[in-house]
Amino acid sequence: MKSIQARYSERGPDPQKLIEAVEVELADPGPGEALIEVLASPINPSDLLTLTGMYGVLPELPATAGNEGVGRIVTVGENVETLQPGQLVLLPLGCGTWASHLVAAAADLVALPEGADPQQLAMLAINPPTAALLLSEIVDLKAGDWVIQNAANSAVGGYLVKLAAEQGIRTVNVVRREGAVAAVQAAGGDVVLVDGDDLPKRVRQATQGAGIRLAVDAVGGPATERLASCLGNGGVVVNYGVMSGQPCQVSPTHLIFRGITLTGFWLATWYAGASAERRSALYGDLTRRIARGELAAKVAETFDIRDVKQAVAAAASGGRDGKVLITPRHG
Ligand SMILES: NC(=O)c1ccc[n+]([C@@H]2O[C@H](COP(=O)([O-])OP(=O)(O)OC[C@H]3O[C@@H](n4cnc5c(N)ncnc54)[C@H](OP(=O)(O)O)[C@@H]3O)[C@@H](O)[C@H]2O)c1
Repeated sequence: MKSIQARYSERGPDPQKLIEAVEVELADPGPGEALIEVLASPINPSDLLTLTGMYGVLPELPATAGNEGVGRIVTVGENVETLQPGQLVLLPLGCGTWASHLVAAAADLVALPEGADPQQLAMLAINPPTAALLLSEIVDLKAGDWVIQNAANSAVGGYLVKLAAEQGIRTVNVVRREGAVAAVQAAGGDVVLVDGDDLPKRVRQATQGAGIRLAVDAVGGPATERLASCLGNGGVVVNYGVMSGQPCQVSPTHLIFRGITLTGFWLATWYAGASAERRSALYGDLTRRIARGELAAKVAETFDIRDVKQAVAAAASGGRDGKVLITPRHG
């Protein structure tokens, strides 16, 4: 069986130059394994950081890129009783999902509800739980509390707006360009503002000076300081992304005199420490919401696996109106 896979053998600052769509011969699935036709896989900022060598864990090279995605089982090897050909499955995290086909251990595959949008399910494993956990694990938020986040038009930002609204938590959403404002308002963001030096003043006006308890930072650099300035005394800034490529800045005035705390969040750390019951409760709940269409991320563009270079270039460019997905063409 032939598979087209997005392979790379070195890391560097221009991911689209390093990644190549290559044809590889796949062995038939062995005992306990399944052959899967990949349907959709997103290109996340963490995939780009993995290609540039800036991510927290890096695979051995050469590697097939892609962390998450969904596929349909084509055949199963011996001793696979729980999954059948034709079944929609969530691919194991980090298994090299930018591929037309792959072989994986059946025990690592999770059956998904039929009838749901495979593109939305392909984005289930990383961003939705991150948004949910940023709301639940950092500060004990109650209905009526305010949260502020930057990169609010990102996929994580969109899930966070929706999940916060369900819990009665109000959101101040910061974006870096005017063109992103309307979509975040339409998605239910309570306040949407373009970042800038006078952000704290505009946030105070928009929230009538509410003491914001949590700031969710995906950007770093001076953007972190601006979020910290918007918090009430004792508030927490949680950094979970490095979109600016710069170290977080928070002035000692906030840390010392206002009791602001700067902390970090990584889904991988939460995942490693959480019980199987807790993980399966969170992922089960998010799967049901995505399958029912209650939680969704915008898709800006899809690319065949053969066009992975263009896909990576599109994902790396700013000002997108949604995620870039690889959707291999079959047949
Ligand atoms: N820590 C974790 O466990 C974890 C888990 C999941 C995701 N993340 C992080 O969450 C963040 C969002 O991920 P995503 O998949 O939701 O992103 P996404 O949908 O691909 O959106 C990227 C966002 O980053 C903004 N952006 C890009 N370059 C920027 C810059 N130089 N300065 C400020 N903003 C910039 C974009 O704004 P424009 O639209 O204006 O370009 C957009 O809002 C990423 O940093 C990702 O690594 C972390």
